[in-house]
Amino acid sequence: MLLEARDLSVRFGGVQALRAVSFAVPEGAVFAIIGPNGAGKTTLFNVISRFITAEAGRLRFAGRAIDRLAPHRIAALGIARTFQNVELLHQATVKDNLLLGQHVHRRTGFLAELAFLGTVRRQEIRMRERADEVLDYLGLQRYRDVRVAELPYGTRKLVELGRALASAPRLLLLDEPAAGLASEDRADVALRIRDVCERRGVTVLMVEHDLGLVAAVSDHVLVLDHGVAIAEGTAAEVLESSAVVDAYLGPPVAPTTPW
Ligand SMILES: Nc1ncnc2c1ncn2[C@@H]1O[C@H](COP(=O)(O)OP(=O)(O)O)[C@@H](O)[C@H]1O
Ligand SMILES: [Mg+2]
Repeated sequence: MLLEARDLSVRFGGVQALRAVSFAVPEGAVFAIIGPNGAGKTTLFNVISRFITAEAGRLRFAGRAIDRLAPHRIAALGIARTFQNVELLHQATVKDNLLLGQHVHRRTGFLAELAFLGTVRRQEIRMRERADEVLDYLGLQRYRDVRVAELPYGTRKLVELGRALASAPRLLLLDEPAAGLASEDRADVALRIRDVCERRGVTVLMVEHDLGLVAAVSDHVLVLDHGVAIAEGTAAEVLESSAVVDAYLGPPVAPTTPW
């Protein structure tokens, strides 16, 4: 298992945001977490990214305990994320945002940079090549030198995916990748998620409200409600489970197949 969470609990004052949540994400899978607003999905991502510390439970990535690591160490181990509300440097260009996404891997400090300018230069060239490769992959080359602030929302979401991919992650956390997108853009997101997983070999852990998208791309689904994991299984098993669907998610949704 690439990521293993055991009995994670988080409390904010009187709110128990996560209650002994356990799950395991196999390498190479698209694993979705669904559930109504306030279920604890973003909190779970924040625990994995180490933005917040669980009051109880354990977290392992690639066989190693990551419960106590600093957020930048998590990133350096190969966990990248996108945010529910796109988080980019809006006054910077697309290319610069992708370059910043790679700083988790820079090995040199300021003094080392003075001493080994050649190494720094090579790293910089490598980072630019990687940014360009990701821009090509996502079809974003024409926006390379455009400031993020000037781009439409859907393109910004794609740039944020690019920033995460530029760090060459092993595990990609996507918090509501289709939120706020028109239906044709959602189909595009579905294709990209599968492609990132299958062709780039990135394991994907995704939170998403669009159950059609979840059904179309996920190998495995975990359902959270009020901080509790109430169901888990293949997308078909979980989405057809009438208890889950009726009680927490509204009427059944037919899977959409965008390709
Ligand atoms: N930083 C925080 N401080 C206090 N309460 C929070 C904080 N973050 C989340 N919560 C609460 O925890 C619960 C889970 O929130 P969240 O993880 O954002 O849910 P979801 O992403 O599933 O909609 C909610 O009741 C929310 O109000
Ligand atoms: Mg959320």
